[in-house]
Order: sequence, then structure tokens, then C-alpha cells
Amino acid sequence: MKVGILTGGGDCPGLNPAIRGVVYRGMDFGFEFVGIEEGWRGLVKGMYRPLGLSDVEEIIYQGGTMLGSSRTNPFKKGGEKDLEAVLENIKAAKFDAIVALGGEDTLGVAAKLYSQYGVPTVGVPKTMDNDLSGTDFTFGFDTAASVGLDAIDRLRDTARSHRRVMVLEVMGRHAGWVAWYVGVAGGADWVTLPEEPLDVDAMIAHLSAVRARGKKYGLVVCSEGTELPALLGAEKAVDDFGHVKLSDRSVGEFVASTITEKTGWESRHAVVGHVHRGGSPTLFDRVLGMRVGMKAAELVQQKQFGQMAALVGTEVKGVDIVAATSVLKIVPPELIELMKTTFK
Ligand code: F6P
Repeated sequence: MKVGILTGGGDCPGLNPAIRGVVYRGMDFGFEFVGIEEGWRGLVKGMYRPLGLSDVEEIIYQGGTMLGSSRTNPFKKGGEKDLEAVLENIKAAKFDAIVALGGEDTLGVAAKLYSQYGVPTVGVPKTMDNDLSGTDFTFGFDTAASVGLDAIDRLRDTARSHRRVMVLEVMGRHAGWVAWYVGVAGGADWVTLPEEPLDVDAMIAHLSAVRARGKKYGLVVCSEGTELPALLGAEKAVDDFGHVKLSDRSVGEFVASTITEKTGWESRHAVVGHVHRGGSPTLFDRVLGMRVGMKAAELVQQKQFGQMAALVGTEVKGVDIVAATSVLKIVPPELIELMKTTFK
């Protein structure tokens, strides 16, 4: 079989191990692989590169994606020509299957190509946001959250020295997984999530109680997607999938200045941003990437198209790609309550 592989959406550590996993397992089945460059844009424009053993052998420890990525959406309104080009290029290149590595957007395209046009697609879930349904974890998340944890540990030192409140803004888009893990594992005094609106009074009351008992500094973790009515006007630009570009506003800055305004304490903010997405994947992300990649090759071999390789418990198995991409996996109320019990 001739199999095209692409990586779409925001990159994250673990993509290269996953590409390697698909190719290594596919070699057992005698597949021929072609790398499609820059996500769905590569199928719109016919941008390919060879993808054999020597191309993927040494990429296990590398961040980013050797195939390049983009947020191209061939299903976007007015993009009919792009969609036609994708379908024609798949035929012209004689692909028997497309393995798409991506988050809800990239896999949403794979799901539609399969369900509406019968294109044989298989999905591999990736995203630092960890917000894909159907899988317990996505690779990229562990590395991204570990980068955030390192940042909060460093901020604690300087916060304590200067008796300041340090506010750390982390990515995660509309799901608070990264903030939850970084906040809980980093011992933050307060965490703001997109899952619930920020309660400024409750935050200030708690930070004040912490200071009153003698701890002269504070640590706050903010998810970039936290709902802040004061910032709504700042959300303008959207990408191909209609997502607001959250980098155009700064929740961390807003929270830090609000704390200073309400308490008179010195506060500073730091934004992890795209630093989350670079660097060598952690052990967890390398192994998860490799396992879901290998499973995708097995799904192609079994002709189980319209499926996504997912981590369910300790097992990696195929799940329905349409179901996985139709609901965002956000932090559930019970975990939010658990997090709040750490604010003492
Ligand atoms: O979806 C992954 C992610 O890193 C989000 O956490 C963030 O909001 C977004 O991508 C940033 O996108 P871009 O790389 O297009 O600025």
C-alpha cells in the first residue's frame, strides 16, 4: 500500500517519534510511505517528500515535525477549490491511505474526508492542549506541561526573594489541562481555567489569606483561554478553523495588574507561550507517540479507516475519529474541585 503521512495544526513534541512509529510498523507490512509536507496544505499543493527508514531513524529525540505543519483547512468556507485539489491530488498520487497526525482540527478534516468522500484516513492524536476526546492523553501534553512546571519552579525562587506575586500564563486554548497540571504540581496558590470564569474577589481573598499567615509571596497560574469579560474586545483575529488567536491578548498580564491594583503588592507576569511546544519530547511523549503511530499503521493494514489510534487506560486501540473530534475534552468539575482543595 502507498501511504501518505501528514502533520497538521500546532506542532508539539512527540510528532517525530509518532511519524517514526508509523513508518517502522508499516515496514512490517511492506508499505511504501510518502511524507506530505505542511499538513493539509501539502495535499492542496501536492508537496511531498520521501519517507523511508533512513529519513526517520534518528528523529526519535527531536521536537517539532520533520514534515512541517500548517493550520490549512480545505473545508473552510469558500475553500471549495482547495478541497477539490486535495481529492485530485490523493488520486493522482495513488495514495491507498492517509495517516493524519493532528488535533481536533486536522483530525476533523480527516473525519470529513472519510465520512463525506470515502477517503481512507486514519488519525493519530496529538496536541499539547490534551483536549481530544476518545484518548486519555495526547502526546505533546507531558512535555508542554513539564516546561510549564520548570517555569513555575523558577518563578517561585524570584517571587520569594522579592516578596512578589508571580503570574504564569500557560497555553491550552479552551481546555485548562496544562494550567491544572502545572498549578497542582507546582503548588500554585491560585489557578485560572477556561472551564470557569475568573472570580477576582475569591482569588484576592485567598492570596490575602496566604499572605496574612506569613507567606510573603504568591504564585498564580493562568490558562490563556480563561474567560475575562474585560478582555473580550481584544479577541479579533481567527485562524482557518475559526479559532480566536489567544496570543493577541494576555490573561497573565491582566491578572497580575488586577492583583497589584486590588492589593498594592508588586506583581509580575511571565508567558510560556510557544516555548511549551519546542524541545525534546519527554520519555512519556516519545513512547506514546511511537505507540499511537504504530497502531495507526496497524489500522491501515486492517483497513479500519475512519479510526483514530487512542490511549485508553494502558491500551492503545482504534476509536471512531468522528466521535473523537466532535466534543472537546475539558477539565471535569471533579478535578477542578480537587485542584481547589490544594488552595490552603
Ligand atoms: O493548540 C495548540 C496551541 O499551542 C494552543 O495551546 C495555542 O492557543 C495555539 O496552539 C497557538 O497557535 P499558533 O501556533 O498558531 O500561535
